[in-house]
Amino acid sequence: MSRESAEKRVATLRTTLNHHNHRYYVLDDPEISDTEYDRLLRELQDLETEFKELVTPDSPTQRVGAAPLDAFNSVEHAVPMLSLDNAFGLQEVREFDQRIKRLLKTEDDIEYVVEPKIDGVAVELVYENGLFVQGSTRGNGQVGEDITRNLRTIKEIPMRLISTRAAPATRLDVRGEVYYTSSGFSALNKERAGRGEPLYANPRNTAAGSLRQLDSSITAQRPLHIFVHSFGQAAGYEFSSHWQALAVFRKWGLRVNPHIEVARSVDEVIKCCEKVVSLRDKLEYEIDGAVIKINSHDLQAQAGTRSRSPRWAIALKFEAKQATTQLLDIKIQVGRTGALTPVAIMAPVKIEGVEISRATLHNQDEIDRKDVRIGDWVVIQRAGDVIPEVVKVIESKRTGKETLFRIPEKCPECETTVVRLEGEAVHRCPNLSCPAQLKERIRHFASKGATDIEGLGVKLVDQLVASELVTTVADFYSLSKEKIAGLERMADKSAQNILTAIESSKKVDLARFLYALGIRHVGEHVARVLAGSFKTLENIKNADQEALEAVHEIGPQVAENVFQFFQEKKNVEIIELLLQRGVELQQAAEAQEQKFSGQTFVFTGGLNGYSRKDAEALVESLGGRTASSVSRNTDFVIVGENAGSKARKAAELGVTILSQAEFDEMVKSEEPPD
Ligand code: IVH
Repeated sequence: MSRESAEKRVATLRTTLNHHNHRYYVLDDPEISDTEYDRLLRELQDLETEFKELVTPDSPTQRVGAAPLDAFNSVEHAVPMLSLDNAFGLQEVREFDQRIKRLLKTEDDIEYVVEPKIDGVAVELVYENGLFVQGSTRGNGQVGEDITRNLRTIKEIPMRLISTRAAPATRLDVRGEVYYTSSGFSALNKERAGRGEPLYANPRNTAAGSLRQLDSSITAQRPLHIFVHSFGQAAGYEFSSHWQALAVFRKWGLRVNPHIEVARSVDEVIKCCEKVVSLRDKLEYEIDGAVIKINSHDLQAQAGTRSRSPRWAIALKFEAKQATTQLLDIKIQVGRTGALTPVAIMAPVKIEGVEISRATLHNQDEIDRKDVRIGDWVVIQRAGDVIPEVVKVIESKRTGKETLFRIPEKCPECETTVVRLEGEAVHRCPNLSCPAQLKERIRHFASKGATDIEGLGVKLVDQLVASELVTTVADFYSLSKEKIAGLERMADKSAQNILTAIESSKKVDLARFLYALGIRHVGEHVARVLAGSFKTLENIKNADQEALEAVHEIGPQVAENVFQFFQEKKNVEIIELLLQRGVELQQAAEAQEQKFSGQTFVFTGGLNGYSRKDAEALVESLGGRTASSVSRNTDFVIVGENAGSKARKAAELGVTILSQAEFDEMVKSEEPPD
């Protein structure tokens, strides 16, 4: 090919690739297949290899990363990157509105824009005549670091702005937040743990760490995302309002968050803020508040700025999910399988309004890895429903008086020498009659997903075990009202209530019963799989490891544990006693079980009326399988509210997508699905 035609072809390819990049990464709406895209990219790469002088920094081929740097250069921001003043609570948002009205000398409602505050890393992107020329971190607000090469690897950042009727500004310093998704974060940490590398504390740090790589080919491998939310300098274009600026940014191909709204009064602002709060647990990325900005640029200018933050905006901060506190002691908790778990006892702190004074330290390896010592100041975090955990130690606060901790050699409950099996991270107490294990096994047996004996709290279990009224789970079914009422602080009526609850727990379905037995690795799901496949307890008891492993979803570890459990004479005796004392196993109805047989379901988004867990249990009770991600093996994807990428993936793979109403209909109908 001649140089001239190569030049033309290169230009065409770049325009085409930039267009498809925008469709794919910003609009989430690709027009061509990945293979087709790759083919075009390859053609461009080949031409650039042949005609090296045609390579330009904005070429789509330059997103893969460049040779490592020794250090980042400094970049001065043309307009300082300010930070935001904070409001803690909705009352302070109202006070902000009153301040604004005083400042603008008006009593009329002010129009605001309310947006999620993305918990990411602030960056500035400089576009000259539509071309991306430089990107930087916020730094101290005046001067940041030049991370242009790293930002180029983020496919959501256009190398060239799309020219519409609103031709891009001659110079635009647009600002935004680079972030990591929660799932991307977990996946990366999993990989790092596998390689024995230090883990990132949260998605924000992961994004920051990824952007600060001197070797941009590392950044290129990280799934970074961006939302733009403001700008510094904009020459050659007039925006009358923030809302308009965002709309124009979108047209130019920049990625703007979809959950941004205009609020015409402070009352509407409050409603929008509440909406943002409710989004928090549904989004694929972390947000740490809502940002409220005056919409009109004229009014923004009138309100003005302080030295570090504008007067026209405020951030309503969510309460932090992390907190700092002092670790006072480490106690050992003995679980039902004898596992010894070190638990951090801390000076109480509140996270999201919940007081926390205990956090798990998992095992000795984790304590060693994080170098946690008694007396240390630590960062703890609470995510969703999970048990709080110690994230890291604040080493700068060490005084030298901290003490190292080692898991004891003897079980703190029964003094038996603890063991650590090869390949296991946990230490265990091997004594099956250890009272601590017994209490946990009993609690588990009576828990909600198991036999569900209502009113059996921790205290009562302790009393029943201490008085030796209950020495195995079978003893529940030989308790009398008199025996229970004989316990300290136990009224007749409460004793009767417990007895009634025990009586009604006698009818239990096979899956729950299996789960209640507390076999290692047999959670609620595995128990349902086993029950569905073997139908009777006898069949499971008689199955050898091979037969167990032949069941879909049952791996060698589960198979071995189940098999071993039924080899133990004591376990079989307890089961026989349970049955003798009136426990009646209910088999799931045959017809129902078959309805979703062989079908795999994936749920995405929020469901109305039941939790994700309930929905999955429902599918499984009807013989179906559930999975957490969409693949070619998925038969149905049920799309709830605010569904994310799974729905898109389903569409791409041609998997049947159902609304919740359609799914409910399917559950009710007599016919098995096609
Ligand atoms: S506007 C002068 N909008 O929060 C106001 N900032 O704590 C410019 N941030 O430095 C920022 N989400 O990096 C704005 N929707 C959003 C934001 C946002 C996150 C960051 C931003 C800023 C920091 C202030």
